[in-house]
Order: sequence, then structure tokens, then C-alpha cells
Amino acid sequence: MATARWLLAAAAAALMLANCAWAAAPRKPVDVPFQKNYVPTWAEDHIHYVDGGREVQLYLDRSTGTGFQTRGSYLFGHFSMHMKLVGGDSAGTVTAFYLSSQNSEHDEIDFEFLGNRTGQPYILQTNVFTGGKGDREQRIYLWFDPTKDYHSYSVLWNLYMIAFFVDDVPIRVFKNSSGDLGVRYPFSQPMKLYSSLWNADDWATRGGREKTDWSNAPFVASYRGFHVDGCEASAEARFCATQGARWWDQPEFRDLDGAQYRKLREVRQRYTIYNYCTDRDRNAAMPPECAKDRDV
Ligand SMILES: *[C@@H]1O[C@H](CO)[C@@H](O)[C@H](O)[C@H]1NC(C)=O
Ligand SMILES: *[C@@H]1O[C@H](CO)[C@@H](O)[C@H](O)[C@H]1NC(C)=O
Repeated sequence: MATARWLLAAAAAALMLANCAWAAAPRKPVDVPFQKNYVPTWAEDHIHYVDGGREVQLYLDRSTGTGFQTRGSYLFGHFSMHMKLVGGDSAGTVTAFYLSSQNSEHDEIDFEFLGNRTGQPYILQTNVFTGGKGDREQRIYLWFDPTKDYHSYSVLWNLYMIAFFVDDVPIRVFKNSSGDLGVRYPFSQPMKLYSSLWNADDWATRGGREKTDWSNAPFVASYRGFHVDGCEASAEARFCATQGARWWDQPEFRDLDGAQYRKLREVRQRYTIYNYCTDRDRNAAMPPECAKDRDV
């Protein structure tokens, strides 16, 4: 008994140390079942529940894909999902995890995984919409096979920045530049979280040249980790009631730290395949927020 108690104390101390050393890493989500925070969005019969809803599998076949969304809306927080993507020949399929407000001038923060032929790499595309304006795609290859195991994909969103993480490695930062560069920033429209799997063989794989091979259907993507660490607000709310008081509002989460910027730069150098900020054909003039993207 005494030994057990001591071990517990030692483990707690180690945990605190770990937390200090990684002061600016987002908190780890706790594990809750799907039903606590989420509901199906469409094609309910294509969602399979495993282990009492701790794992959910989305099925895509010729008839339809499917998707789910949070019950609530959130204004700022840390939003993560553990995902295992469609394995084997996934060309033409897109699996997504994103946040979006529900109005016409909507805000949106996207992770989209573009499938590929067996053995060919997935592309992770990210995008940010503010006030209905998107066209901010960035694309990377991942440094692991996302179909073999679960990996975590998360977004830290506060008044200062939107940071995208893959397993705690930052892959993109969109800073609040509304003050200095006049770029709209999502700060007053609560968003829901969405996940989905659908057929997008008109554009997803090699620009739409590789079509979905339906002889491999159904395509299955798996999800875990349905905790939502956000400030819940009604869809019409303009602000979060606890604004400024939550962990993600604190100074250490207002920017990435030096080690995180080093990792981000490494991801940039080694894995980037597309960045709207450097696409001269598309944007003759560099979009204003790209001034900060370049500093990375
Ligand atoms: C972030 O954006 C809001 C609204 O656009 C603005 O009022 C605020 O000053 C900005 N904060 C920072 C740190 O730039
Ligand atoms: C699919 O594989 C091809 C060949 O390796 C590659 O050019 C492409 O970027 C990959 N990903 C997608 C989604 O097209």
C-alpha cells in the first residue's frame, strides 16, 4: 500500500516536471466516448461504434460517405482528434477534421487528408477561412504512415494565434494580424467541430487524375479521443464568457516557443509541397498575412 502511494506521488511529480519542461505544449486531452460531445451529421448508418463509442469508424462506399459534429459550439480552445486514415488504396478519398462557424461570412480551420494509391503518400492540406474568405491552402507530406496507427491532429485557437499540430509538432501558425496587417481573425463566431469521409476524386489525388477504385470499398477511417477542451458558447454568442481565464489564454500559449519554431521550420523545409503564400501564379500580390508566414 505504502509503496503504491509512493509510486503515485513519484508519478505525479514526474508529470509536473514534464508539464514544466513543455510549458507551451497543449494539454493532453482526456479520453471520453463519442456520445458525450458528438452526434452524426449525415448517413448515420455509415458510422460504426467500437468499444462503447471510444472508437468510431466512418465508412465510405459508392452510395455515400458520412460525418459527425459536436453538439456544442466553441469560441477558442484546444481541439484534437486521434485519427487512423483509410489504408491501402485510398486514392480519391478525403478524410477531414475541421472547425467551422455556421453563418455566411464564416470562419473555418481545416485539416484535410487526401488519399492516394497504395504505397503513395497522403497529403495533409490545411486551410483557414476568416469572414468567408479562404484560399489559404498549405500542403505537406507526413513523416509517418497515417494509416498504420492513430496520430493526434490538433488546433490551438486563442485570441493570438491558430496553431496546427500533428502529434504535438507544430506544422502551421496563423497569427492574429488584425491589428497590424488588417487581416480578419476569427474571434467572435463560435465554431463546431466536424469530421467526415467522402469521395472527392474530382480533385483530391494528383489533382483529380487518380479516381476512386470502388472495388476496394468500403473505405474506413477511424477516430478516437472525443474530448473537447474549449469555451462553449451558443452559436450566436460574440464572445466567450470565460475569455482570458482559460489555460490556452495564458502568456505561454500566445506564441510558439523557440523549440516549437525550430520544429515548424524543419517541417517546412522537409515536408512542404504547397504554400499559397509562395504561389505567384495564383497571388500576384502576396496576401498580407504571408509577411508573418515568411518569418517562420
Ligand atoms: C486580435 O484580433 C482582435 C479582433 O480582430 C483584435 O481586437 C485584437 O486586438 C487582436 N489581438 C492581438 C493580440 O493582435
Ligand atoms: C500521391 O502520390 C503521387 C506520386 O508519388 C504524388 O505526386 C502525390 O502528391 C501524392 N498525393 C496525392 C494526394 O496526390
